Amino acid sequence: MAQKYVLAIESSCDDTAAAVLDFQGDVLSDVVFSQQDHVIWGGVVPEISSRQHLGRVASIVQQALDAAKVTPQNISAVAVTQGPGLIGSLLVGVQFAKGFAQTLQIPLIGIHHIEGHVLAGLHDEGFPKPPFIGLIASGGHSAIYLCNEGYQISMIGETRDDAAGEAFDKIGRLLGFSYPAGRKIDKLAEQGDETKFPLPVALKAHTTYDLSFSGLKTAARELIYKLEANQKPLDEQTVKDICASTRRAIVDALLGKAILACRQLQIYRLVLGGGVAANSLLRKEAKRVAPENEIQVYLPKQKHCTDNAVMIGHAALRRLHLGQTSSLNISPKAQMDFNH
Ligand code: KG4
Ligand code: ZN
Repeated sequence: MAQKYVLAIESSCDDTAAAVLDFQGDVLSDVVFSQQDHVIWGGVVPEISSRQHLGRVASIVQQALDAAKVTPQNISAVAVTQGPGLIGSLLVGVQFAKGFAQTLQIPLIGIHHIEGHVLAGLHDEGFPKPPFIGLIASGGHSAIYLCNEGYQISMIGETRDDAAGEAFDKIGRLLGFSYPAGRKIDKLAEQGDETKFPLPVALKAHTTYDLSFSGLKTAARELIYKLEANQKPLDEQTVKDICASTRRAIVDALLGKAILACRQLQIYRLVLGGGVAANSLLRKEAKRVAPENEIQVYLPKQKHCTDNAVMIGHAALRRLHLGQTSSLNISPKAQMDFNH
């Protein structure tokens, strides 16, 4: 039988990404173009982002095909993020994927963005068998999920206000960093003292898996304003110390809830994902704390934590192997259920 390949496309926010995987889940190419325009605006501007996707999607797909050394005729199925996300951005990926599928007369698979994050490592050796708990923390989402034996995903707790990545980005902005700030805070935190300015962790109660980061953001803002009243701009070490406290508070909040869910539901397998799962302290602490609680933890490669098309390809392959494909009439969805 001829080798089969899936082309995957992700365009839910500000990254235009395409990847080619074979039907066993081996990754042949993995292209991500991260838009830079929001550096000027301090965040993603949906209309600008969708236009950027439109201008680039064809060349990003071509790059993914070239890097994988396959032609469109070698592709047996096309997968695309259908939602949730920015509607204009999603529309570009979905329309491109539909056109590709229709022209080549191949199946189309619309994928839930969070299902992609949860299953980003699906074909890796260390990826756990379900049921498992998923902690997905990014700029747009921060939630705890339960993935059952049939890979049905349900949310069991979520942030009541800001997402974890959003908290990194907003506190970073107060410190004068450009968007997105998570990676920079992570780097500077390595040289900071996380005990110097302790910041609060909200919703510590064992009665909820929900998270909250707005109190942390307010506390950080007040701390920064107070320190700036004496010294503006803040000296380098103070900035590093604030970064370290911010990172510690966010990591403790996220891991605390994930471990709580594993213990209370007696599911001793945990999968991390989303841009914040690239955080070095979160990764280090997860590897330390999970085994202490007899929990097996899976961390995707850092580059597959932030948005990418490989994760969409993995999630699509699972559905494809079950014969689940989408209609060519699918529409992008800004809000989307898992059972779409
Ligand atoms: O998953 P993602 O690429 O996009 C969304 O779906 O939102 O996540 C982006 C988020 C941003 O808020 C960014 O600041 C954060 O992930 N992020 C990090 C790190 N790398 C990216 N946060 C903390 N530490 C990092 N190393
Ligand atoms: Zn994401």
